[in-house]
Amino acid sequence: MKVLGISCSPRKNHATELLVKEVLGTVVAETEFISLAGMKIGACTACMECVRDNVCKVKDDMQGLRQKIVDADAYVVGAPNYYSMLNGLAHCFLERFYQFRHRDGKAVAGKLAVAVGIGGSSGAPVVDNIKTFFEYNQIECVGEISAQGAASCFTCGYGETCKAGAIHMFFGAGTKITPEIVPSLSKQPDKIELARGLGRKLTEQLKGFAAAT
Ligand SMILES: Cc1cc2nc3c(=O)[nH]c(=O)nc-3n(C[C@H](O)[C@H](O)[C@H](O)COP(=O)(O)O)c2cc1C
Repeated sequence: MKVLGISCSPRKNHATELLVKEVLGTVVAETEFISLAGMKIGACTACMECVRDNVCKVKDDMQGLRQKIVDADAYVVGAPNYYSMLNGLAHCFLERFYQFRHRDGKAVAGKLAVAVGIGGSSGAPVVDNIKTFFEYNQIECVGEISAQGAASCFTCGYGETCKAGAIHMFFGAGTKITPEIVPSLSKQPDKIELARGLGRKLTEQLKGFAAAT
């Protein structure tokens, strides 16, 4: 049994990656983590060249991920909230699962997954988006988790004065950025515990999955 964890954040070592790794950390099976940061993955072009053989013909970094997706028995997919939905990289990555849908979608249908969403305020809409992609590909979502990450406004240099940014939005004008107000996963022990529980739950469900296949 193999579980593939994927962070769709363009930022390495940030909340999406860390929370996906928390889930993977308690999985008792072979695991692999992949960050899409720095990868070039374009949108589905609807060329339909994948219909006959379930292989996408678009030449980019998705090609190197395809076999890993096919070989895995379960997925932990995490993405950040951009504009109240999953970010573009995650959308492109999951759109390209279209290649697996044809001819009964055998490459991924019936596999298990966990959805992970991160947002400056909330990752909940992202979890819903990821679950929709899972449903279309007949991937069974066994659990979900959303948590708060640090918006770039905390470190961009203009956060204290920018009226459009997260600091004004969350705390109001005149707020000084101090370490205490910067969100991080370490300040959300309940989320870490939930993530670890999801890794254990995925392990249990994989046992049943193995017995049935
Ligand atoms: C382009 C952009 C749009 C964003 N829009 C939202 C948003 O609508 N809601 C929200 O809660 N956070 C939003 N954020 C904040 C990110 O979700 C937050 O920084 C999160 O921690 C990113 O995940 P990461 O830390 O793993 O990179 C946005 C960030 C960016 C870069």
